[in-house]
Amino acid sequence: MKTQTLAVHAGQQPDPSTGALNTPVYLTSTYSYGTAQEGKDRFAGKNPGYIYSRFANPTSSALEQKLAALEGADEAVVVASGMAAISSIVYALTQQGDEVAFIDPVYGGTDAFLRNTLVRAGVKVVSYSSDDDFVSRHNPNTRLVLWEPVTNPTLKVVDSRKIIAVAKQIGAITVCDNTFLTPALFQPLSIGADLVMHSGTKYLCGHGDIIAGVIAGNGPLIQRVRTVALKHIGVPMGPQEAYLLQRGVKTLPLRMRAHCDNAKAVAEFLATQEKVAAVYFPGLAAHPGHQAIADTASGFGGMVALELHGGFDACARLLDNLTLFAQAVSLGDLESLACHPASTTHAAMTPDDRARANVTDKLVRLSIGVEDIEDLLADLAQALAKV
Ligand SMILES: Cc1ncc(COP(=O)(O)O)c(C=O)c1O
Repeated sequence: MKTQTLAVHAGQQPDPSTGALNTPVYLTSTYSYGTAQEGKDRFAGKNPGYIYSRFANPTSSALEQKLAALEGADEAVVVASGMAAISSIVYALTQQGDEVAFIDPVYGGTDAFLRNTLVRAGVKVVSYSSDDDFVSRHNPNTRLVLWEPVTNPTLKVVDSRKIIAVAKQIGAITVCDNTFLTPALFQPLSIGADLVMHSGTKYLCGHGDIIAGVIAGNGPLIQRVRTVALKHIGVPMGPQEAYLLQRGVKTLPLRMRAHCDNAKAVAEFLATQEKVAAVYFPGLAAHPGHQAIADTASGFGGMVALELHGGFDACARLLDNLTLFAQAVSLGDLESLACHPASTTHAAMTPDDRARANVTDKLVRLSIGVEDIEDLLADLAQALAKV
């Protein structure tokens, strides 16, 4: 079935006891298994059946089925946040002495986790400046490589096909952070990635009311990640969040179309503005990554970045004068959001790392919502006039 049909139907069955069409929210920490033998069997994995909600919960299981269907994955596991997804993947699949590679830039929290925390577990972390840099300089001993196909916050394109081809030759596990494009536009597993992950907080949810993480991929890898994430680190998604996330995902393809259309119009408008020094949006034909996304995805996403002449002060002038866009971190909500990444989402990076990743003081990131495009353009025009 097609993506929009799966988004609505996958993982959802009428509740067997009541016929309720919507997946119930199972607010329970534990499950009665009735007999000692049944308890023994469930713990031995012989019987399907729930034991304890840190390990699995029916609301989360239904969501996992929906997300696995959308990603074309054997299995999915949902966790407490996007950072819980990243750290669980890396702790589950690497060990002391291994090397983890990533393509610059990534979300500032990911960068900080890899460079500051993961290295303390004895894992070597190496960053590459682009897909081509990874192709030419990669270390054959790399164990895992992580990338964002459209990077946060510079909207640079990393060609997933190049990363996957090299990783396959050297036997590295490929992990695509697909938060910006979502399975409505791009399915990394279909072109050979081992795992795809998301900050479900963003477009998958779409309504800005939860923190959530998602990992999907081949069965054996997901089993290992599931055990570490849920049993060892202990970062399950709660059932209320799982309910809200499955409700949001039902409209994901519809919402993504609106985000993509609005973002394209905003990027085209900004490109005509004298006060704007540069516009970054892969949907513009002049963007160096335009073709790579056009070849692999069905849309360019809802994120736009721009640079102003001047630094923080010029950006603050723009941001402080926006009235419809909220000044806030996060992205992928129905509401349009704007932020200055160097001083917010990517503030945890060192100035050197930020400079290497082109996260400059003159950069503003826009998450384009689903409001009427005329109102969005009018807000940007009046704020730019005051810069
Ligand atoms: C691309 C990307 N990956 C991961 C994360 C982390 O997700 P969360 O905030 O849900 O932990 C974010 C958060 O902004 C992000 O933008």
